[in-house]
Amino acid sequence: MGYSKNIINLAFESSCDDFSCAVLLKDNKGIKILSNITYSQDFVHDIYGGVVPELASRNHIKASLPALSSALSKAGIALKDVGLVSATAGPGLVGSLLIGLMEAKTISYALNIPLVKINHIEGHIFSPFLENKEEFPFIALVISGGHTHIYLVKSHSDIKLIGKTRDDACGELFDKVSNYLGFGYPGGRIIDELAEKGNKNEFKFTLPMAHSRNLDMSFSGLKTAVITLIDKLGGRGKIKEKIVFDIFASTREAVARILYKKTLDACNIYGINTVAVSGGVSANSRIRSLFEEPAKNPCFKVIFPSISLSTDNAAMIGYAGFFKPPVDPVKNKEEFLNINADSSWEL
Ligand code: KG4
Ligand code: ZN
Repeated sequence: MGYSKNIINLAFESSCDDFSCAVLLKDNKGIKILSNITYSQDFVHDIYGGVVPELASRNHIKASLPALSSALSKAGIALKDVGLVSATAGPGLVGSLLIGLMEAKTISYALNIPLVKINHIEGHIFSPFLENKEEFPFIALVISGGHTHIYLVKSHSDIKLIGKTRDDACGELFDKVSNYLGFGYPGGRIIDELAEKGNKNEFKFTLPMAHSRNLDMSFSGLKTAVITLIDKLGGRGKIKEKIVFDIFASTREAVARILYKKTLDACNIYGINTVAVSGGVSANSRIRSLFEEPAKNPCFKVIFPSISLSTDNAAMIGYAGFFKPPVDPVKNKEEFLNINADSSWEL
């Protein structure tokens, strides 16, 4: 799927606790982000230690129109200039998804602009290519609060799941450990910052499923091991600051090493030498340094999105939208009206 003429794409992402609206331009030079506005709700959910779905939807309603106005004005365009609307339709929190998707549908229907619905994970998979040239085939490692998945990607329409976590996602592990020690949400970012002050070799955790003969992973056992260690050392509020930093550094190291090992296995099994890492956890500094260490990493070339495009954003949804067939609200009215949020949409 491709567009032959210049086209402006208005994109929405609201699958979890961020409301994001972006404007992208596709012309003969490629795809360019004209604006990418994200209203984060970290401060709303921080006190609860995780995302509260009802609060996320209520705050999305407040953010939805200001985000649209900011994205349009920063891009220097008006709604009449838009030629395509893209929106995340799943997976995610249904109340959250509905706010962005319905805003997109309304604009599409009112102004008769084709609409394309995007799977959130697909948005992450291609996010590294917002700033880098696409290289097929590649192994995609998607690491976020809800996903730890490995895909073999041969084209925009040929994406095969080849490995995934059997229980918790790696971001979930970080969020739960941070919460257990009272450090708040999002735990991944907090642990990443504090781990810089700790010793990654102080505690040795067994790497979950490191020697299994497949690409599946597990993070629930590692989470239990970290929490058991915290309890053994006295529990929340009773452990010296330096030791907490060591726990964070050692946990981050174990997560980075298992992700690296499984990605390397995937490259070897499928004979691929390009890896694209994405999702909120791909902002992690140790994961980046381990994957990028050239001496340890002779087998694959790795591409990361920049930090601001690692976590949820609408620009990645717009990018994926250029490669999918859109639905015309007039010509395909029935199909259009049936577009709905699907909280468990599997890629
Ligand atoms: O992709 P994302 O923004 O939302 C989901 O689709 O889940 O990812 C959010 C996850 C959270 O678990 C958060 O703790 C984690 O990304 N995260 C990080 C970092 N920044 C955010 N994890 C590790 N290191 C970071 N620097
Ligand atoms: Zn995400």
